[in-house]
Order: sequence, then C-alpha cells, then structure tokens
Amino acid sequence: MANDCEMNPMKMKMKKTIFIAATLILASSTAYAGKMAMPSDAPASYDAECASCHMAYPPALLSEKSWQNVMSGLAKHFGTDASVDPKTRAEITNWLVKNATTRQKYMETAPENRITKTSWFIRKHDEVRSDVWKRAGIKSPANCSACHTDAAKGNFSESNIKIPAK
Ligand code: HEC
Ligand code: HEC
Repeated sequence: MANDCEMNPMKMKMKKTIFIAATLILASSTAYAGKMAMPSDAPASYDAECASCHMAYPPALLSEKSWQNVMSGLAKHFGTDASVDPKTRAEITNWLVKNATTRQKYMETAPENRITKTSWFIRKHDEVRSDVWKRAGIKSPANCSACHTDAAKGNFSESNIKIPAK
C-alpha cells in the first residue's frame, strides 16, 4: 500500500517548482503594489494647469484612452472649466498618454473619466466606510493625498496611509 506521505521524486520536483513560482509572483506583486511613481519629466504646464484644484494625479493611474477622454473634455470638467490653450493641451496630453498605465489591471476606460470610478479603485477601497469619505479632512475620494501621505509622488502603498480622524 502506498503511504500518503510518500511521493515520487518527479512529484516532489513539481511541487518545488510551483512553490518557487508562487513565491516569485507574490514577491513581485508586493514590490509593485501601490507604486505609480510620478515621472520626473512632467512639463511645467502639468503642475500649472492640473494641480490648482486638486493634486497633480500621477499619469499611471489611468489608461491612455481615459487621459484622452479627460483632456478632450476640459471645458466641462466636473462642473468647472479647466480648459487650456491648444498648444498646452497637446503638451499635457502627449505626456499623460506616454506615461499612462501599461498594467493590465489598471487598463480599463474610467467611467465618467474618474480614477475613483474604476473597478480597481472601488475594490482597493472597499474597506473605507462611506461616511469616512465625507469627513471634513477628506471631502472626496478624489482627494487622494488626504489619506495617502505620499500620493503626489505616486506612492499609494499601505505603509504610507493615514486616514484623517475627522
Ligand atoms: C478649475 C479647477 C480644476 C482644474 C484646473 C483641473 N481640475 Fe481636474 N477636477 C476638478 C474637480 C472639481 C474634480 C472633481 C473632484 C471631486 O470629485 O472631488 C476634478 C477631477 C479630476 C479627475 C478625476 C478624479 C477622480 O474622481 O478620479 C481627473 C483625472 C482630473 N480632474 C484631471 C485633471 C487634469 C488632467 C487637469 C489639467 C488639464 C485638471 N484636472 C485640472 C477641477 C479641476
Ligand atoms: C479615505 C482615505 C483614502 C483616500 C481619499 C484614497 N485612498 Fe487609496 N487607499 C486607502 C486605503 C485605506 C487603502 C487600502 C490599503 C490596503 O489595505 O492595502 C487604499 C488603497 C489604495 C491603493 C492600493 C495600494 C496597494 O498597495 O495595493 C491604491 C493604488 C490607491 N489606494 C490609490 C488611491 C488614489 C489614486 C486615490 C485618489 C484618487 C485614493 N487612493 C484615495 C485610503 C484612501
């Protein structure tokens, strides 16, 4: 009778390979988790035109298509007029598109052009209660830097989160 604990060498080898592969996948996803680094070559116009009403969102938070959608609707931008001259618009758009996400899980076209309406955003924030978003120190899910202390640098990792108590 074969003993339950007994394994042939081939099976052992397979188990070991699967274990190593799983470890590597885990390690790489942890290393990348929450990092959407702000590229160092942002045109001055991005800060000047896109960081006065909210933080300058790191481009890797949205797909190419989503940035094109945001940038083609600036005259009617979430209840405000955020339009810029055509030259500036082209400059910002090109830079955003060049640095848009290349990662499959962030690739969806954002509903209403909002990062905060993407399915990954909703999934990652499912533990934040609805009344927390409304706290005076937060006001809106779009106010990333209220909780992510290094959001402007594109760092959203768990160790850099501090949720305002009110
Ligand atoms: C006149 C003010 C103003 C300017 C200038 C402005 N925005 Fe916005 N933007 C807003 C408001 C208001 C919202 C909605 C914020 C909220 O829901 O809390 C918003 C939201 C956004 C969002 C979606 C945030 C979410 O909910 O995920 C993106 C992306 C965005 N802006 C990009 C830009 C870009 C790119 C520029 C520069 C071309 C820009 N904004 C300039 C006012 C502005
Ligand atoms: C109310 C505070 C709050 C606000 C505002 C907020 N977040 Fe978060 N965010 C969290 C919490 C809490 C988590 C979950 C941390 C965890 O469990 O790893 C999280 C997780 C994330 C993650 C996943 C990090 C990882 O390691 O996988 C990303 C990416 C992220 N947030 C991006 C954003 C962006 C972009 C914005 C603004 C558009 C934003 N968040 C606004 C609190 C907030």
